[in-house]
Amino acid sequence: MSHPKDAPAVHPVPPAFAAQANLTRADYQRLYAESLRDPDGFWRQVATRLDWMRPPTQGKDTSFDREDFRIRWFADGELNASVECLDRHLAARGDRTALLFEPDDPAQPAQSVTYRDLHARVCRLGNALRNLGVARGDRVTIYLPMIPDAVVAMLACARIGAIHSVVFGGFSPNAIADRVADCGSKLVITADEGVRGGRRIPLKANVDAALRLPRSNSVETVLVVRHTGAAVDMQMPRDRWFDAVVEGQPDQCRPERMNAEDPLFILYTSGSTGKPKGVLHTTGGYLVYASYTHACVFDLKDDDVYWCTADVGWITGHSYIVYGPLANGATTLVFEGVPNHPDHSRFWQVVDKHRVTLFYTAPTAIRALMREGDGPVRATSRASLRVLGTVGEPINPEAWRWYHAVVGDGRCPVVDTWWQTETGGILITPLPGATDLKPGSATQPFFGVRPALVDADGRRLEGEAEGNLVLLDSWPGQMRTVHGDHQRFFDTYFSAYPGMYFTGDGARRDANGDYWITGRVDDVINVSGHRIGTAEVESALVSHPKVAEAAVVGFPHDIKGQGLYAYVTLVAGEPGSDALRDELVRHVRSEIGPIAAPDHLQWAPALPKTRSGKIMRRILRKIAENQPDQLGDTSTLADPSVVDALVKARRDAG
Ligand code: PRX
Repeated sequence: MSHPKDAPAVHPVPPAFAAQANLTRADYQRLYAESLRDPDGFWRQVATRLDWMRPPTQGKDTSFDREDFRIRWFADGELNASVECLDRHLAARGDRTALLFEPDDPAQPAQSVTYRDLHARVCRLGNALRNLGVARGDRVTIYLPMIPDAVVAMLACARIGAIHSVVFGGFSPNAIADRVADCGSKLVITADEGVRGGRRIPLKANVDAALRLPRSNSVETVLVVRHTGAAVDMQMPRDRWFDAVVEGQPDQCRPERMNAEDPLFILYTSGSTGKPKGVLHTTGGYLVYASYTHACVFDLKDDDVYWCTADVGWITGHSYIVYGPLANGATTLVFEGVPNHPDHSRFWQVVDKHRVTLFYTAPTAIRALMREGDGPVRATSRASLRVLGTVGEPINPEAWRWYHAVVGDGRCPVVDTWWQTETGGILITPLPGATDLKPGSATQPFFGVRPALVDADGRRLEGEAEGNLVLLDSWPGQMRTVHGDHQRFFDTYFSAYPGMYFTGDGARRDANGDYWITGRVDDVINVSGHRIGTAEVESALVSHPKVAEAAVVGFPHDIKGQGLYAYVTLVAGEPGSDALRDELVRHVRSEIGPIAAPDHLQWAPALPKTRSGKIMRRILRKIAENQPDQLGDTSTLADPSVVDALVKARRDAG
């Protein structure tokens, strides 16, 4: 890699930052060594940061081996996540701001919700849910915009021991129905509409369409938050206004005593095969891990204002907008809008308006804003910022440098945090007061985390190396199962390399032991930091009557990181037209959601296959990248002329 002369390859911890940091380099080295020497003792000590109803006497109880496979942490502890996030802060900091809400439209007033207010709102909804027959262990689907009620809904579920499944507001009715059916939700919480960048999203209408599908028949009740005030169909007695059911409810609500290993939530995520998996996280270990990583990675102080720009529909929103920050008694900002509305200064205007100190966003947003130049950033102060974070995909060094130099004025450490829906919290990351930074590297493992690199045969690679990233031991925030399919959990993550958790990512380790994540090595594509399974997009395409076969691969995209490139074989006699191409893209949008819409769709008279009928995606990727001279070994192709035709069509398309 080449660097411009004035761009250092390593950014040491600024001395002024180190002087005030919660954790210094020496702390990191000492605690990391301790966490590996005695993980049980280390995490039991960390677990005392929560106010357990019954403190655990057990710590780590895990094995990744097939014979005695188990993942349990603090297994005899009892707690309630909403109590950890709310009640325990009331005495000392009840009047402190828990949530800052910044609406999509900057002309609308911001809101500030104190811990006391949030507690009361959660209790009222918890009581209302109980009255509606929602009991401990029941599943509740949440399909809401980024508004305070989304946080209220999650915590109200946690309070009564219901398991929430938040579905991102960008998913289509079909995708909602899949997720409702998989976990058998009894109740859905939605809003009349969402608003993003001035555009309205018909959330209630999407839920209506989802619930018309027969597989969604577990749903008894739909609660509707009045957000924009738009007229919506209310189907009685199923649909109830949120306001009406919480009104008059007591502002105290008995929290369920949950076992540490009781489920807290299910969150669906894409894998390389089949339908999205319901990733299940439990209560005790998850909360210990989310809160501790949040405090350490962001160097959290009492007076910080913390803003993570993710949506609560993703794991980042769960762990680092809701559970981590609130368990820590922090102020967390909930932003309804988008980075470029009404203009490209919006993020930084919000930073100045609320005096945000800790800021966490995705590389795709940084790249999109970088393209607009420095002007929109320089027009704002950003003097409040202390730490900048990124998550979701590899950050290219140019974007890292721009974020550091322009957004942070060269003053704020940038923490590039690597983790996954499955991991519950951050696993590989710098600690801002402890770690020298390298643009593009997630650097070092967090406490207790044991990354390793293996080759395709599972042999450990030592020292400087590149290979598949695995984890050798458990950490408290690890997912516990795939909802309803424990075998799939084991097979997906623990069967490729026996005794290890396989991440699905590739990585390089440099001479200093710093990790550089190179991206997915499976058939998952990371589009703007969102995980899309090629299998899902292919099955959406094939569900169209005119499509015989489809193959989807990723290709490099300037803003999104990766885009989706679809090869489509039509049924015999069907001519490919521009109109049909548009129709197929629309079809995928309505089957899954706009995030899964292919960026390119190429007609393929046939797909390159091996003699045993396996699609050769490696070749399709090279054609998509317009690098036909790098197709590699094509000798196993059943019919090489198929490739020539695709290459020619790709070249003609430019
Ligand atoms: O490929 C890695 C990438 O995002 C994947 C996980 O996606 P998801 O479960 O949706 O969670 C995203 C938010 C935690 C990983 O397998 N990824 C995430 N963070 C990084 C990353 N790749 C490189 N660098 C990161 N910091």
